[in-house]
Amino acid sequence: MEQLFKCSALLVILGMVLDLAMSASFSELFEPNWAPDHILNEGNLTRLSLDTNSGCGFQSKSTYLFGKVNAEIKLIEGDSAGTVTAFYMRSEGFNHDELDFEFLGNVSGEPYLIQTNVYTNGTGDREQRHTLWFDPTADFHTYAVSWTRYSIVFLVDEIPIRVYANKEEEGVLFPKSQAMGIYGSVWNADDWATQGGRVKTNWSDGPFVSWFRSFGVDACELKPDDEDNMLVQCRESDQFWWNKPAMGGLSRHKTHQLKWVRAKHLVYDYCKDTTRFAQLPKECVN
Ligand SMILES: *[C@@H]1O[C@H](CO)[C@@H](O)[C@H](O)[C@H]1NC(C)=O
Ligand SMILES: *[C@@H]1O[C@H](CO)[C@@H](O)[C@H](O)[C@H]1NC(C)=O
Ligand SMILES: *[C@@H]1O[C@H](CO)[C@@H](O)[C@H](O)[C@H]1NC(C)=O
Ligand SMILES: *[C@@H]1O[C@H](CO)[C@@H](O)[C@H](O)[C@H]1NC(C)=O
Repeated sequence: MEQLFKCSALLVILGMVLDLAMSASFSELFEPNWAPDHILNEGNLTRLSLDTNSGCGFQSKSTYLFGKVNAEIKLIEGDSAGTVTAFYMRSEGFNHDELDFEFLGNVSGEPYLIQTNVYTNGTGDREQRHTLWFDPTADFHTYAVSWTRYSIVFLVDEIPIRVYANKEEEGVLFPKSQAMGIYGSVWNADDWATQGGRVKTNWSDGPFVSWFRSFGVDACELKPDDEDNMLVQCRESDQFWWNKPAMGGLSRHKTHQLKWVRAKHLVYDYCKDTTRFAQLPKECVN
């Protein structure tokens, strides 16, 4: 009994150590790429602010191909109408790939929307929008993207809210040949973000502040001196968890969670938007 206790205590401690190893500090992973004076690191918190002068943003020092990326985020409190806070991955260049979380602000007391999108070869237009089952301005929650050759899964507190499956065999492009950087930002988007752009940013309620912390990057990092070789490794080597066949589907539990999210919290799905698409995109057809 005592042995068992010692053993599980050890596991808990080990778990904590691993957890710490997984969540890196801002400056290890990132650097500001827009308005550095609007980004402040206070202990383990990173503060991004938007005011009449500017929004701001950061990007990772490295790029990655496949893996899991997450951050804890606490969104702008009170009146956040017109603002967007973003956490996303993106490759460089014109025909870029991109995986987005965008948090669309709202007037006080009205719900944020979380918009996700997937770009392949420079084209997005794959938006989904969800409400959340909690107030994302009251506390930190974990937002994650899991990107493998099988699928891209967007997760909120480990609950999958969206799966973009690899349907290359059906002729749909899937991001897997361009490494992506990790980005975060806060900016003014009052031409479209809140209630279709009808509600504008009320600048006298600024500055608008979102908080980030506990970044986790368990992904295949491309080293500048060995990029081409590494790209192939990341994509093909069986030694990496993201290439294991077990990553090919959601567990039963996660499948149930996704169903629940779609039933209760999905408010827009491009795959259902026949007004916008005379013919629905290929990946929408099961
Ligand atoms: C951040 O730092 C505070 C104060 O040092 C500490 O109480 C808290 O547990 C830390 N949180 C995380 C997520 O690291
Ligand atoms: C990507 O887009 C470019 C045009 O911007 C096109 O020429 C190219 O064929 C596309 N690639 C694929 C794989 O579809
Ligand atoms: C803001 O609140 C309105 C009213 O509840 C709602 O229709 C809308 O979806 C909410 N979110 C955004 C981003 O407009
Ligand atoms: C903007 O915010 C200020 C301060 O909170 C408030 O007095 C004013 O009524 C708001 N304006 C609009 C158009 O809501």
